[in-house]
Amino acid sequence: MNAKVNIKKILVIGGAGYIGTDLCFELLKKGYSVICYDLLVYNNKIKSKSILNHKNFKFIKGDINKIQKYKNDFDNLEAVIILAGLVGDPITKKYKKKSRLINYVGIKNCIDFFKKRNLSKLIFISTCSNYGIIPKNHKADENYPLKPISLYSEDKVKIEKYLLKNKNIFNFKTTILRFATAFGVSKRMRFDLTINDFLRQLYFYKKLTVFDPDTWRPYCHVKDFTRCIIHILNVKTFLIDGEVFNVGSDQNNITKNELIKKILKQTKIKAKISYLPYSKDLRNYKVSFKKIENKLKFKAKYSVSFGINEILKSLKGKKFKKKEILGNYKIKLKT
Ligand SMILES: NC(=O)c1ccc[n+]([C@@H]2O[C@H](COP(=O)([O-])OP(=O)(O)OC[C@H]3O[C@@H](n4cnc5c(N)ncnc54)[C@H](O)[C@@H]3O)[C@@H](O)[C@H]2O)c1
Repeated sequence: MNAKVNIKKILVIGGAGYIGTDLCFELLKKGYSVICYDLLVYNNKIKSKSILNHKNFKFIKGDINKIQKYKNDFDNLEAVIILAGLVGDPITKKYKKKSRLINYVGIKNCIDFFKKRNLSKLIFISTCSNYGIIPKNHKADENYPLKPISLYSEDKVKIEKYLLKNKNIFNFKTTILRFATAFGVSKRMRFDLTINDFLRQLYFYKKLTVFDPDTWRPYCHVKDFTRCIIHILNVKTFLIDGEVFNVGSDQNNITKNELIKKILKQTKIKAKISYLPYSKDLRNYKVSFKKIENKLKFKAKYSVSFGINEILKSLKGKKFKKKEILGNYKIKLKT
C-alpha cells in the first residue's frame, strides 16, 4: 500500500542552542520533520551526525531579524518554537544594544512574520527570572506579579505581554513557557548555568566561590524542557491557547547552599568553598509548577541528583576538556 504519511513540520528558532539541540534531536526521534533556524552567534555549530544527517532535518543559518528572507521554507508548518536569543544576564549586560535588537526587536519580528501564516501553535520560551525577587515564604505561580530586574527578563516580559495582548489576532494558538534554570548535559553544552558551572569548577579546580548562598532558584533538566515542548505539541489547543506555564518541578526549588551540600555529598569531591553573602545577581525566587501538572498532566522527572551524576560522569569521561570554555560568554559574529 502506498499510504502517504503526514509528517508534522516544526520550526525551531534558536535550535542550535543548549536546549534547542536536545529538542531537535528528540523531535527527529519522534518522527517530526525539523527546520532549525539559528544564527550560531557563539559559533555553536551543530556537530551531532545523527541530527545533521537525518533525512527530516534542515538547518538554516539566519538572523531572526531577517526571517522574511526564508519565507519559502516555512510552508505547511505545524508549529514554531522560539528559543532564540541572547540568553542570561551576563551576556545581555555585556551586549546591551544587540540584546534588545535580538531579544525584543528580533523576536517580535518573528511573531509578526508568522501571525497570519497557516500554523497551529507558536510556543515562546520565557523564563522564571521574570519573577525577579520574591519574599522567602512565597512561591510564584503564573499569576504572581512579574518583577524583571535585568535587561534579559525585561525583554522576555515585553514579548509575553505582546503575545497575550494580541492573541486573538494571530492565526496560531500561542503558549508561553517560563522555564526554570536549566541543568544537564546537552549536545551544545553550557557551563555558564549554575549547576553545570559548579560541577565543572569543583571537578577541575577543587575550589569554588559561592555568592549569596541563601538565594532560591528553581532548576530543571534540559531533557524535561524537551519533554515539555513535545507534550505541548500534542495536547488539545484549547488547553494551551493564550496560556502561560511555569516549567520545572517543585522538588528542584533549592538554595545555592543546599545545592553545594548536595553536590559535595554526592560527588565526594574535596574542595575549598568560599561563601560571600552578596551578589551582583539579586534574583531570588521559588516557583510553583502546579499549573502545568494539573492542567496538562506534565511532570518534570529528572532530579538535581540525576543531573549531578550525569554531569560528573561526562566530566570524568573526558567529554568536556578543562580548557574548553563552553557557554554564552562572547558573541562570535562578523557584524
Ligand atoms: N538555559 C536556561 O537555563 C534557560 C532558562 C530559562 C529560559 N531559557 C530560555 O530558553 C531558550 C534557549 O536557551 P538556551 O539555554 O538553549 O540558550 P542558548 O544560548 O544555548 O541558545 C540560544 C540560541 O539562539 C541563537 N540566536 C541568538 N541570536 C540569534 C539571532 N539573532 N537569530 C537567530 N538565532 C539566534 C544562538 O545562536 C543560540 O543557538 C532561551 O529563549 C532562554 O531565554 C533558558
